[in-house]
Amino acid sequence: MAPGWKLRVLLAQALFGDPDILLLDEPTNNLDINSIRWLEDVLNQRSSTMVIISHDRHFLSAVCTHMADVDYGTVRVYPGSYDDYMEASTLAKQQLQKDNDKAKDRIADLEDFVRRFRAHKAKARQATSRRKMIEKLKVEDVKPSSRQYPFIRFIVDPREKLHRGAVEAKGLFYGKLDLTVEAGEKVAIIGPNGVGKSTLLRSLLPEDFKDNLKLDAATVKWAEKARLGYWPQDASAEFAFDETLTEWMTRWRRKGFKQDDMIVRATLGQLLFSGEDQKKKLKVISGGEAQRMIIGRLILDMPNVLMLDEPTNHLDMESIESLNTALDKFSGTLFLVSHDRELISSLATRVIELKPDGRAVDFRGSYEDYLTATSAVLAAA
Ligand SMILES: Nc1ncnc2c1ncn2[C@@H]1O[C@H](COP(=O)(O)OP(=O)(O)O)[C@@H](O)[C@H]1O
Ligand SMILES: [Mg+2]
Repeated sequence: MAPGWKLRVLLAQALFGDPDILLLDEPTNNLDINSIRWLEDVLNQRSSTMVIISHDRHFLSAVCTHMADVDYGTVRVYPGSYDDYMEASTLAKQQLQKDNDKAKDRIADLEDFVRRFRAHKAKARQATSRRKMIEKLKVEDVKPSSRQYPFIRFIVDPREKLHRGAVEAKGLFYGKLDLTVEAGEKVAIIGPNGVGKSTLLRSLLPEDFKDNLKLDAATVKWAEKARLGYWPQDASAEFAFDETLTEWMTRWRRKGFKQDDMIVRATLGQLLFSGEDQKKKLKVISGGEAQRMIIGRLILDMPNVLMLDEPTNHLDMESIESLNTALDKFSGTLFLVSHDRELISSLATRVIELKPDGRAVDFRGSYEDYLTATSAVLAAA
């Protein structure tokens, strides 16, 4: 059964008998963007209390009224959307820091007094009372969050920047889609699983990437200086080597760009691989770590076109946010296959939706504009 239908069946079972409380563990995993929208509607129409675990920021904000932050084994509940939570938790931490600084100053003053007058008989009582005050002034420790954000930037060498056209392609998606993409466009490719998104992306790649993909009689013409960075949906084949993380990453250094061992180590470090991790063998890495290694390879390779196929699969929320920021700052051309609505909403300047009936919609504008435009069409029909 396709994941979308499996979820519908599970949900129907869970909703049967109209429960007071619903517990949902990562319900949007493997769902396409339209199924996620459907699920948001279904859940919003229920009055049950719900506890939801999810990495999907848009889904969380669309459905939940409170965010529970689990950090260092304590749970803190914040009212509002995910953005509200981010803002409130940052403010709370800043306030705590300020209170702490004030308390520390006060303590320093009091200690100074005690030190100076401790020996004076006349002031002994005052010194004692101040010592008591010190005991009462508590500095709460502000632990840095256990949450860690990798640092990601995809830098395009200014000499390699593309101008005007990036690619011209004809006969994609079973021969039904022609595309002309300008440099700097950010193209989101959406559609249900199995519709042909990954194939579309791969048919844009040059021969040596495609490993014998013989499909569409598509013709693809890239700008001469185009330098493609491909992030496959399933990267496991990339790690089928008896190497350590460092050895693997070292292989992807770009010649002529001063990428020495220190740069490799620093790149692994910024992706949160500790010194110990870097000596690990590839065969023990997790799904999320594999994705971060692919990010590292792309950072070293400095492409001016990024072709990403469901990059947020297996990534934790912190990495998704860092990736989102990096793609936002990326000055090159982006092709992005994703079901992550937040990622698409915040990045896309163009939306291509592949439909199961074989049609492809090519829309210039943001995802929100696309939704508005398509619902207007539906309303008119
Ligand atoms: N343009 C195409 N021509 C021929 N077969 C295709 C084409 N696009 C997709 N397919 C077939 O459909 C299957 C699913 O496509 P895929 O690109 O993996 O979908 P998605 O990434 O949207 O889940 C592929 O295994 C492929 O064989
Ligand atoms: Mg795919």
